[in-house]
Parts: sequence; C-alpha cells; structure tokens
Amino acid sequence: MRLARPLIVYGIAGFGLAALIGLCGAASVVHEPEIDAVARPSPESFDPALVLRGAQLASVGDCVVCHSSDSGRPYAGSKALPTPFGTLYSDNVTPDEKTGIGNWSFPAFQRAMTQGVARDGSHLYPALPYEHFTHVGDDDLKAIYAFLMMRQPVQQSPPENDLLPGLGFRPLLAGWKLLFLRETNFRPDATQSAEWARGKYLVDGLGHCGGCHTPRNLLGAEDHSADLQGGLAEGWIAPALDASNPSANRWDTASLFEYLKSGVAKGHSAAAGPMGPVAEGLSRVEDADVHAISVYINSRMHPQNTSHEATAAQAVAEDRAAFADPTLLHAGELFTGACGGCHEPGAPMEVAGRPPLSSVSDMLMDDPRNAIQAVLQGVTPPSRKGPYMPAFANTLTDQQIADLLAYVRVRFTDAPVWPDLAAKVSAIRKEDAQ
Ligand code: HEC
Ligand code: HEC
Ligand code: HEC
Repeated sequence: MRLARPLIVYGIAGFGLAALIGLCGAASVVHEPEIDAVARPSPESFDPALVLRGAQLASVGDCVVCHSSDSGRPYAGSKALPTPFGTLYSDNVTPDEKTGIGNWSFPAFQRAMTQGVARDGSHLYPALPYEHFTHVGDDDLKAIYAFLMMRQPVQQSPPENDLLPGLGFRPLLAGWKLLFLRETNFRPDATQSAEWARGKYLVDGLGHCGGCHTPRNLLGAEDHSADLQGGLAEGWIAPALDASNPSANRWDTASLFEYLKSGVAKGHSAAAGPMGPVAEGLSRVEDADVHAISVYINSRMHPQNTSHEATAAQAVAEDRAAFADPTLLHAGELFTGACGGCHEPGAPMEVAGRPPLSSVSDMLMDDPRNAIQAVLQGVTPPSRKGPYMPAFANTLTDQQIADLLAYVRVRFTDAPVWPDLAAKVSAIRKEDAQ
C-alpha cells in the first residue's frame, strides 16, 4: 500500500500544479458558459418510481454524507470538509431556488456531476467526486435529479471556503481537470457476467470507492494505475481491496455483502471511521446492487491463481498471553483493566462471534493508523445494534495507547511491533482535533 505520500487526502484538489498551469497560460477553458436558470420543476412532473430509484442511487453515492452538516438539514450542505489546502464547505443541493439547486435544469445538474462545473459556469472542486460521477449514466443521473428536486427546499448558504491564499481562485481548477479528469463512458467487459459489470459500474462510478481506497498523487488526484490499492480517508486508512487486502480472514462475496449491507460481517472488523456512513448508505440500497458490488470486489481481491493465504500469514492462532517481555508487563495490566473485558480471548463479545484482535485488518496492516484511530475514537456501529467500542482519547495518554498497541501486536499477531508508536499517536490525536 502506498501511503507515505504526505498529501494524499480524500476529496482534495491539486491546487499546486493547477496554479502552475494557470501561470503558464495552459489552462484552456477557465470559465464555462452559464446554463440558464429554469423555474423549479413541479413535484408532479416526476414519476414516483424514478424518485424511488433516485433515492437508492443517492444512497450509493453518499450524497447525504457530504451534503449535510452535523446540525443542519439533510442535503442542505455546509458540511466542513478539511483538506491540506484548507476547509471546503459543501453546497446546498435541496431545491431551494435562491441557495440550492432549485432553478437548475437537468443539463446543469448533469454537467456538475460529470464535468465539475456549476450552473453559473464556475469550476467545482473535486471534493465533489466527479472523477467518479463522470462514469454515471444519464438515466441514473435523471433519477438522482428527480430525487433531489423532491426534497424539502431549505434556504441555507454554505460558509465561505477557508482555503490557503490564492487557492480560492476557481479557474485554476480547469488546469487540474485537464490533467486528471477522464470523462469516459462506462463500457462493460464482455468477458464478465452482467452482475460483475453492474458491480464495477457502481464501484467506479456512483459508489466512488476509489475516492478513499485508491492512493492519490501529490496533487490530490487518484492514481489510476493503483486502482483500489489502498488510500487515506479522513485520517483512516482505507485498506486495499485487491489481492493485497490485509485481512487475515479471507473475504468472499457473502461476507462482503454482509459487511457492505450492515457494516458488520462475521470474522471481520466492523466498518469503523469513514466506512461507517458508507455501509449505512448501502443498507438502504437494494440487495441486488450491493450483491453486484460484492461480486466485483471479490473478483478484485481474488484474481485467478493468487493465494490469499500468502498475504495473510501474519495472524497467529495461539494466544501469547504468557510472553515474557518485561517492558510490556505494565501494558498487559492496562490491557486487562481497560480492554480485556471485550478483547480477552473468550470475552462475551468474541463468544458472540466478533473477531479476535488477531484477525482484523487494522491489527495486521503495516501502518498502525487505524488501530490508533479505533482506540482514540472508538468504534461506532453503522446500525445501532452493532458492536460498540468506547473512545479512549480522553482517558489514555499517547504513551499508554502506544504501549497497549505494542502489547496487542506482540500478543495477538506475528507481525513486528509498529515503530515510533507514541509519536504517531500524538500526531494522529492532533489531526483529529483539527
Ligand atoms: C465526498 C463528499 C461529497 C460527496 C460524496 C458528494 N458531494 Fe456533492 N459536493 C461536495 C462539495 C465539497 C461540493 C462543493 C464543491 C465546490 O464548492 O466547488 C459539492 C457540490 C455539489 C454540487 C454543485 C452544487 C452547486 O451549487 O454548485 C452538486 C449538484 C452536488 N454536489 C451533488 C451531489 C450528489 C447528487 C451527490 C451524490 C450522488 C454528491 N454531490 C456527493 C462534496 C460531495
Ligand atoms: C469515505 C471513504 C470511503 C469510501 C467512499 C469507501 N470506503 Fe471502504 N473503507 C474506508 C475505511 C476508512 C475503511 C477501514 C475501516 C476500518 O478500519 O474499520 C474501509 C473498509 C472497507 C472494507 C473492509 C476492508 C478490510 O479488509 O477490513 C471493505 C470491504 C470496503 N471498505 C469496501 C468499500 C466499497 C465496496 C466501497 C464503495 C461502495 C467503499 N468501501 C467506499 C473508507 C471508505
Ligand atoms: C466495550 C467493549 C470494548 C472495549 C472496552 C475495548 N474495545 Fe476494542 N473493540 C471493541 C469492538 C466492539 C470492536 C469492533 C470489533 C468488531 O469489528 O466487531 C473493537 C475493535 C478494536 C480494534 C480493531 C479496530 C477495528 O477496526 O475493528 C482495536 C485495535 C481495539 N479494539 C483495541 C482496543 C484496545 C487497545 C482497548 C483498550 C484500551 C479496547 N479495544 C477496548 C470493543 C471494545
């Protein structure tokens, strides 16, 4: 997994080079034409079946996740999306005519989704994942448009973006798109099943799984040569979804379906961090589409003739509670007190079928980021009845968390203790506080 690059962050623009291109005068179209405003389409003009389909598709696309602030109404925008270049605020996509997209025609909406251009002709930041939405077919976009136009209009404008000096200049984005936006129509692979093709269409397009699971280059664009090889998302690692997936327990179509649909699959850790809302969205999507996604991801994880076992050899079956490293003894006591009630082998949670720490991806990755985040932030299940772990950010020090994670790595896995743990905990804690 390629994560060493400092600026790979989910949903950001490559402002730097765009600026350079702007300077060179190479950016061709700095402003697109405005598309005329229309009267807000009347609700009766939309077929209820189309609206229902749009609701499902909007769930695949996580529109509500980015377009709702913590305190605000759904789809009314103003959610803060932090990037290394400053903070962006999402737009209001309810059909309010003044502050939302009420007077946008379908062609204006379609252009925003597939080319990243607002109705007034200004360029949009790729935090709106148009790198992916550009692959979405017209029929699906029409359904989403109908669904959004049927929402309750909310009058609310987002706060001004708070970007580094100069980067608020939108024409620069034309250069970025010139380099990175590939507007291609989806063409199914004739050698694969229709279900596989449907899955790939949803993963590459609306589902924008690569928005988190594909590494980004220094300019914030996805590295398509490393599709789904693992990326960084809101301070968490989105693990590789190809043959290099780190999970000790083999994923298959059934467990992927279970995980994507409910956030919890037997033998795998629950969907934590930013994967939680993704699973929550998919829980509202019809089974056939989630199954298609699972079929496609499974084919990426297990291409012919690869042995998954080879990459998952690090997990150990036996419990090493009796290991004798004196520096970790006090961590052992801390573990018994703070964590053992849930994670000691034989604890009720494991008896109830949740995976032991020896087998979850977060414990086996080369990078401790997700294990640290899980301890700092806890694990909140996407559905209310799922497994729950409290946040320890306020009760444990950086050094205590470092010692605990060193201890669990030694005790439950064959993998080496992660280096510089205390410094990493401290750095991630600072990121979380931003
Ligand atoms: C990862 C976060 C994210 C997701 C997911 C997302 N958006 Fe957005 N969207 C944004 C941001 C941020 C902007 C504002 C971009 C800017 O200011 O340049 C935006 C802008 C838009 C705009 C332009 C509105 C305007 O007034 O210019 C539309 C339309 C839109 N999004 C629709 C959608 C739909 C429909 C979906 C789901 C299929 C969706 N978005 C999913 C983050 C997101
Ligand atoms: C907003 C970012 C984001 C998006 C979008 C996203 N994921 Fe994830 N995904 C993550 C993160 C972060 C994790 C790690 C969660 C954890 O550690 O519990 C994850 C974990 C997973 C896992 C478990 C991997 C393992 O070995 O434990 C699967 C499977 C998965 N995602 C599939 C998908 C699919 C399929 C899509 C698209 C439909 C998708 N994800 C979209 C961020 C994202
Ligand atoms: C109240 C029960 C509870 C306590 C106490 C608890 N955990 Fe957890 N922990 C969980 C649950 C639930 C999960 C998610 C398991 C699953 O995926 O089903 C989890 C997952 C984890 C993970 C893997 C992250 C992931 O994505 O699944 C790590 C690492 C972890 N815990 C470490 C700790 C440490 C260290 C402590 C002590 C400081 C601790 N836990 C205390 C319940 C608990």
